[in-house]
Amino acid sequence: MVAETTLTTDDLVAPLFVREGAEDPRPIESLPGVVQHSRESLLAEVGELVDLGIPAVVLFGVPATKDPEGSGASDPDGIVQVALKDLRDRFGDSIVLIADLCLDEYTDHGHCGLLAPDGTVDNDATLDRYAEVAVAQAEAGVDIVAPSGMMDGQVAAIRDALDEEEFSDVAILAYAAKYASGLYGPFRDAVDVEIVGGGDRRAYQQDFRNAREALEEVRLDVAEGADMVMVKPAVTYLDLITRVRAEHDVPLAAYHVSGEYAMVKAAAEKGWIDGDLVALEQLTAVKRAGADLILTYFAKEIAARL
Ligand code: PBG
Repeated sequence: MVAETTLTTDDLVAPLFVREGAEDPRPIESLPGVVQHSRESLLAEVGELVDLGIPAVVLFGVPATKDPEGSGASDPDGIVQVALKDLRDRFGDSIVLIADLCLDEYTDHGHCGLLAPDGTVDNDATLDRYAEVAVAQAEAGVDIVAPSGMMDGQVAAIRDALDEEEFSDVAILAYAAKYASGLYGPFRDAVDVEIVGGGDRRAYQQDFRNAREALEEVRLDVAEGADMVMVKPAVTYLDLITRVRAEHDVPLAAYHVSGEYAMVKAAAEKGWIDGDLVALEQLTAVKRAGADLILTYFAKEIAARL
């Protein structure tokens, strides 16, 4: 009766991986219970999520080939584009389709943008690629694009490109405060990404020592036209979630990322924690901190229990 926060199925967004050319779903060792889907198995999975009442999915593609420009990200026949069409045909408007918008799954060097000759990420050249990816995803039927590359000016560039091609109804969920975190490891296994030369993303993602700087990133994204913003990861950044909630009125998402999921699963498997309880506790804490939406690999199993 006096509970202040209740996690509900409406709060959950399920991240899903789809692999080009896959005949069968393939397990991801570092993400127990999560798979790289085939086009067929993706349809079956989303059918179950719709039945559970989960309102949205976010798609990540695993292309068969990678190149320096990440061509597969904007190819009309690229894996995410065909998967979006499959899902739209099968499910109509009964589930919201979100697509992660980035290049790292598609580039052979594993960075989120194009590389300049000196090997650094070329922010402004990357914006043109993101614009192309956004339009390809919109043509395939996406409802919301979710740019996750943390390039400066990405939201404005994507908004302009979408409006120009008459996709003004496609919304933008900006990964606005995305930290250079140690918690993305299992995700990189899930999408077969290895950053060239053992590099990292500290040049474009946020420094975990800083909060004010991340708040400024959120302000810029909102000013550029983001319809919704995201804080990522979730549990280690609850302070950011609370501060963004207090300052902005757009819907706020938090991404409970692969490493957060994997830690719970691994400790539970060893019998060291009660995994179901800890999952519920963590996701409820993220909501209590102020998130409206939570992207989580627990979406399906927790929805079945709520
Ligand atoms: C980039 C992207 C990443 C994640 C979502 N989008 C990886 C990264 O920035 O290295 C991580 C999600 C997770 O760990 O669950 N396309």
